[in-house]
Amino acid sequence: MHDEAKVKRSTMPKDTGYNDPFHVACIMDGNGRWAQQRGRRRLVGHYVGAQRVRDIVKACPDAGVTHLTIFAFSTENWKRTQSEVGGLMRLFRRYIIHEAKALLEAGVRVRFIGDRIRLEDTLVSLMDELELLTAGNSKLHLTIAINYGGRDEVTRAAQRLAVEIEQGRLTHKDVDAECLARFLDTRFLPDPDLVIRTSGEARISNFLLWQSAYAEYEFIDTLWPDFTPEEFNRVVSRFGKRERRFGGVTA
Ligand code: IPE
Ligand code: IPE
Ligand code: MG
Repeated sequence: MHDEAKVKRSTMPKDTGYNDPFHVACIMDGNGRWAQQRGRRRLVGHYVGAQRVRDIVKACPDAGVTHLTIFAFSTENWKRTQSEVGGLMRLFRRYIIHEAKALLEAGVRVRFIGDRIRLEDTLVSLMDELELLTAGNSKLHLTIAINYGGRDEVTRAAQRLAVEIEQGRLTHKDVDAECLARFLDTRFLPDPDLVIRTSGEARISNFLLWQSAYAEYEFIDTLWPDFTPEEFNRVVSRFGKRERRFGGVTA
């Protein structure tokens, strides 16, 4: 772990009980362009992108990353062609089936965020099984966002909160930021310290809106299928050189 990064990270985690967390979140963008540049179908880019996930997951423990959250499919990605959406869902099933054993053995705990309601039952069952299978692990907390959108997540949280109030278990006076955060999909996660987006786009596309209030951002030009553990390590060490103030001033 880079010492400087260690000092700067996770100054505002939620009370999740983790000691010294370092949470990196990735918007894995550029798979389609990577494939198109090679005259291949977009799905080829997604398959190569999935291999990069494997490499980055492996690189996390040595980089001092305790939590890795990856954006795999947004609530807006349903707008894509049926064949791309179907191909991505197939890829998620395959990824879970093929990676389960390796993730278990590597000490990775996997969890999913996003609304499962629109996902096929077979995929949801695989997601549940992988969460259960790896529940005892703690070397790396890998969170995969599928059918995830920040606004959708906050909306669903507000609905659940409203039910609690309607049924008398909470009153409006109980509602503060900490209370609301307990209704989010990410209730088990510290806030992200660093959000990396590949592919040169400098936008967040509805990813972890609430949680990234004080995250540092890195927008890098590399397309996700070309993103190597070496570059990941470089980006993580740059994070250590940034000054985080959380609204205060430097002494
Ligand atoms: C990101 O790559 C992966 C998903 C959104 C599923 P894209 O598919 O968005 O790739 P580009 O941005 O079109 O190159
Ligand atoms: C964000 O990428 C979503 C994922 C990486 C899963 P998009 O490619 O969907 O985002 P936009 O359309 O460029 O904003
Ligand atoms: Mg994209």
